[in-house]
Amino acid sequence: MSQKKKFYITTPIYYPSAAPHLGHGYCTVMADILKRSKALRGYETFFLTGLDEHGEKIAKNAMAQGMTPQAFVDEEAKEFKNLWSLLKISNDDFIRTTEKRHVETVQSIFSDFLKQGDVYLSEYKGWYCVHEETYWAETQLLDGHLCPECHRPVEEKKEGAYFFRCQKYVDFLLDYYKEHPMFVVPEGRKTEMINNFIKPGLSDLCVTRTSFDWGIPIKEAPGHVIYVWLDALANYLSALGYRQKDDSLFQKFWNDPDTEIVHLIGADITRFHVIYWPMFLKALNLREPNTIFVHGLMMTKEGKMSKSKGNVIPPVPMVERYGVDAVRWYLAREIVFGQDGEFTPEQFVERINADLANSLGNLLNRSLAMIDKYFAGIIPQFSGAHNELDSQLISLISSTIDKYESLMDSLKLSEAQAIVMALVDAGNKYLAESAPWSLAKDETKKEELETCLSLVAHVLFVAGLLLSPVLVTKAPELLEQLGVSDEFQKFENLKQIGVLSGLQIKKGNPLFPRLETAKEIDYIKNIMLVPHAKAAA
Ligand code: MSP
Repeated sequence: MSQKKKFYITTPIYYPSAAPHLGHGYCTVMADILKRSKALRGYETFFLTGLDEHGEKIAKNAMAQGMTPQAFVDEEAKEFKNLWSLLKISNDDFIRTTEKRHVETVQSIFSDFLKQGDVYLSEYKGWYCVHEETYWAETQLLDGHLCPECHRPVEEKKEGAYFFRCQKYVDFLLDYYKEHPMFVVPEGRKTEMINNFIKPGLSDLCVTRTSFDWGIPIKEAPGHVIYVWLDALANYLSALGYRQKDDSLFQKFWNDPDTEIVHLIGADITRFHVIYWPMFLKALNLREPNTIFVHGLMMTKEGKMSKSKGNVIPPVPMVERYGVDAVRWYLAREIVFGQDGEFTPEQFVERINADLANSLGNLLNRSLAMIDKYFAGIIPQFSGAHNELDSQLISLISSTIDKYESLMDSLKLSEAQAIVMALVDAGNKYLAESAPWSLAKDETKKEELETCLSLVAHVLFVAGLLLSPVLVTKAPELLEQLGVSDEFQKFENLKQIGVLSGLQIKKGNPLFPRLETAKEIDYIKNIMLVPHAKAAA
């Protein structure tokens, strides 16, 4: 039996400090699309997301609400899980860093680092705000001496802390970057890291704290808790059972050099993933992921979408009004994966109308209506190309499938959707130019008519299947209307033009009703107004 190819994909684990917004949804939806696309193409997949539940900020937010940190994160975890279910996220696990399995793995990793001499005890020095009980970096201070949160003067403070010896791994890291050009994508992010952090001289990383206690305690040093990043990054291993009794997932999805491992992250956390994470893995004598993909940030015209700015797009009312497919389509198609993307209500409505209601919806409705009318709802025979238009469409079908695969595999997610939509547009154009309604009037053109409608049915089949990782509810409906049963929905069938002949279509309701532009723009502008953002802040 041939072994299936394996694919492990992760999102960052989110801070559950407040309700999730569309910026968090963005990364999780992209990971879900990549996972589903690999699964469609026969890979065995594992998709992980979760929550980063420790740290001072969480403890403070909990206290402000009169809750224990654990009760607070338990509540927030429900919000995240609800959002993932609403967005139809197909994650295989949901790791929370307060879980026993994670805590034990992190403690065991720290113990080995200590034994190996990778961490050492020293002193952490920083600018401390007594009122906020928080250290700030010099660059974060207001006017060079005030706490950015409460605007009180800060003082320089020291505490005992363990540090990870980064210098030991710098040469390894630079060589690794050189030998693995796909390790950090887009490449510019790696150059930024080298120029801004490595070249000026990388300091050792502080990995424990004593000034707060909401964290994983260190067995060897009571009073110290692991400082968030070592704790957080280890989730990618602990969720797979690393250093636990049953580590079969770890063996399969990490330890096997043939497994393709991809971490998706936002630009603001590049340093931790691209510099420290590979060093931790090297210190553990483990393989590196294949790719750390740095996506851009979701912005609005006010700047980065964030709770503190109050410019968040609340995902729930968007999904409730437009459906999960429309929201997923917008994120996947409109925002170029790897670049920042500005959300505007105008572009949202335009994108849904142009692609889903017009291009895809029209091709489906017109094709099914004609198959119904001319062939009593049975997809006709395909007897090969009869003219140049047929030949062009046939070769476009085949090249679209190939390009889709290579674009998805190189994480060009938005381009992959665009080329499928270009095939749909070509299908509409082909229908207009082939004019099946005229062919139907001429008995001698029966075969041409059959080929024409069988080809547009095939375009819909290809589009339905290739878009199914994004359009998780509407693509299956489209395929059902086309009469393509579940067991028929195989990637291998896509190149076999004519394979659908004889299927009975099942015409249904239009899949994507056209949005009334002015009305919907107003609606979205309203939900973007402050109330939800305030509630989340
Ligand atoms: N807990 C850390 C990650 C640890 S991973 C081992 C963290 N959490 S976070 O909740 O602040 O951010 C998680 C992810 O959400 C980051 O990748 C961040 O880039 C992403 N986003 C937060 N706001 C975003 C947008 N407005 N747009 C896109 N992604 C955004 O950092």
